Amino acid sequence: MSNFREKIHSKELIATFDDVLILPGFTNFSPAEVNISSNLGKYHLNLPIMSSAMDTVTEELMAINMALHGGLGVMHRNCSYERQLEMVRIVKRARSFVIDDEHVATISPKEGVAKAKFMMENYNISGIVVVNEDKKVCGIFTKRDIPFFQQDIQNGTIKDYMTTDVISIKPGASRKEALKILYESRKEKLPIIDNNGYLKGLITKKDLAPEFPLATKDEEGHLLCALAISPRFPESSQAQNMLKEIEKYVDIFFIDVADFFKKDDIEGTVKLMKFLESDFVLGNIGTYQAAEYLISKCDFVEERVIGLKVGMGSGSICTTSIQTGVGAPTLFATAQVADAIQDYNKKLSLIADGGFTKPGDLPKAFAAGADLIMSGHFFAGTEESPGYIDTIAGRKVKVYRGMGSKEARTFGYISDRYIEGSKMLTEGVSNYVPYVGDVARVLATLKEGLSNGMIYAGAKSIKNMKDAQLGIVSVVGQRETQPHDLIGKF
Ligand code: IMP
Repeated sequence: MSNFREKIHSKELIATFDDVLILPGFTNFSPAEVNISSNLGKYHLNLPIMSSAMDTVTEELMAINMALHGGLGVMHRNCSYERQLEMVRIVKRARSFVIDDEHVATISPKEGVAKAKFMMENYNISGIVVVNEDKKVCGIFTKRDIPFFQQDIQNGTIKDYMTTDVISIKPGASRKEALKILYESRKEKLPIIDNNGYLKGLITKKDLAPEFPLATKDEEGHLLCALAISPRFPESSQAQNMLKEIEKYVDIFFIDVADFFKKDDIEGTVKLMKFLESDFVLGNIGTYQAAEYLISKCDFVEERVIGLKVGMGSGSICTTSIQTGVGAPTLFATAQVADAIQDYNKKLSLIADGGFTKPGDLPKAFAAGADLIMSGHFFAGTEESPGYIDTIAGRKVKVYRGMGSKEARTFGYISDRYIEGSKMLTEGVSNYVPYVGDVARVLATLKEGLSNGMIYAGAKSIKNMKDAQLGIVSVVGQRETQPHDLIGKF
């Protein structure tokens, strides 16, 4: 090779968010018509926003809240399999309209009414399923079964007061069927009873109400659950068994490495996909060539690869590019991989990951071809992120750290996220971010920035946003996009 001058001079610009602006487009719709929903494979998200798989960003609380508001939180893997199992279980069981059998409060018909009253007051429930010695349902006892003129009964037994004519529903019934029976019977609770009379769960009218109408759910109405995973196939059978157990609660595994364009990681993932049955998102990658290779030259279980995650070196806590000289900033990587997806497999969803600092960065990512965006920075300072609120110089803060930082690596679970065997070189930092309150508030601001950006760009949907025009801004122009020529500091 002798063309080193060309290597430097005739290359395309590695542009990122601040380098570009979206050109205004013709808007022929009203603000109410803007639709910011998007798809991740077969899953529909009302909000195209995800929180990063990082140990100071997404554990069960964040995952539940992101999903309730229509997005998705990908839980991190910097912990034991036992802890991962606990997290995914909590997310999968949260707020579904069905309460699983082991969580339903039950009582024996021989117990006293006083015990039922105690349970109702202490568990804050209005009714209890009555189950006999064979564990079969024989009645239901609610507050209404206590005669109003006898509220002080202390010595009565449940069997004398319970309702034996139990209106119930069969396992696997839909939300619609449950709503119909609840309405027709004017009941508040519907035990799920199988053909043999055993209790399988409980549906309550309260839980059926769509308090979070935008929530991201699976087909059964449970919250969608996503977890980061190493591309390395676990060696011990004990670890393999744990992974199988974890998988029961996980819809989507996110391969979690800084650079996925590596033979060993690809081979490990192929093996993992054959062992597991959930869907997979692969990443991160940063170039057209990497996407082309993954889509057309690898042996993944094709229908279960639902997305590619892109961006390398852009994260606000990331030092990969400083430490190694390599990077593919998120906007650049998005455009690169979007083209490969257009050329090879239009069904794949594209996630632009990291580097977002302002609401206005979101529409730019969609204009560059993304279907969804992922951020750690926006969410690390929220109430729902793991960790405590600290105070520095009178300001509330929370810790935010890169998974490649010294602090995160000491846990020892993610050595394979970067270059295996590399011990000295950190690729991330740990620092503080301002405490910003509830994640719902942050999401509301992002949502508005995105919708308003789409209105200016003339795009009614995320899909239309891909047709929006982008232009490079000069350095002077970049200065002008900031507030300027004012008195005082900003
Ligand atoms: P941010 O939202 O700009 O802070 O970027 C978050 C993204 O940075 C994550 O979703 C990861 O893809 C990536 N990331 C997380 N930890 C590190 C690190 O230590 N070094 C480099 N990138 C990281």
